[in-house]
Amino acid sequence: MKNICFIALILLSIICSAVNSYCFAENQLPGKDLYSKIKGPYGSCNTCHPGGGSAGRWDSEFNEISDDGDKVIPTLKGIGKKKTPEQLEKIIGLMKTKYKIPIQNSQIKILVDYLLTL
Ligand code: HEC
Repeated sequence: MKNICFIALILLSIICSAVNSYCFAENQLPGKDLYSKIKGPYGSCNTCHPGGGSAGRWDSEFNEISDDGDKVIPTLKGIGKKKTPEQLEKIIGLMKTKYKIPIQNSQIKILVDYLLTL
């Protein structure tokens, strides 16, 4: 009887992990994919910082990339030398709310690791 319970428990945990990875597949995306595939209304990280660079300027009134936008979009190349992982986590949180990118908290660390490689 104990054995059957044990086997049932193992089967259950296998099923749960399969369902889990199917439903939360985005969680397992590598940083590079999170960077370009998670999109808000204004696009992904890659829209404003293409390939880790800069798309130019951001117009915060019309919410678009524009040559005479009021904000310079910084390049992220070598960002790991300028900012600590903790600072990057905070900035990503800021990008998430400001530019409405539906990134989950569990994905932020993965994204930070990717930024450090730029
Ligand atoms: C809509 C355009 C836009 C999107 C989308 C966007 N950013 Fe930004 N990012 C900016 C702008 C503009 C700044 C300058 C700070 C500010 O005014 O918001 C910035 C600043 C940053 C900085 C600070 C760079 C520095 O040198 O201080 C980092 C890091 C960064 N973004 C990462 C990201 C990541 C990661 C994503 C995706 C989760 C993202 N950004 C999405 C426009 C964008």
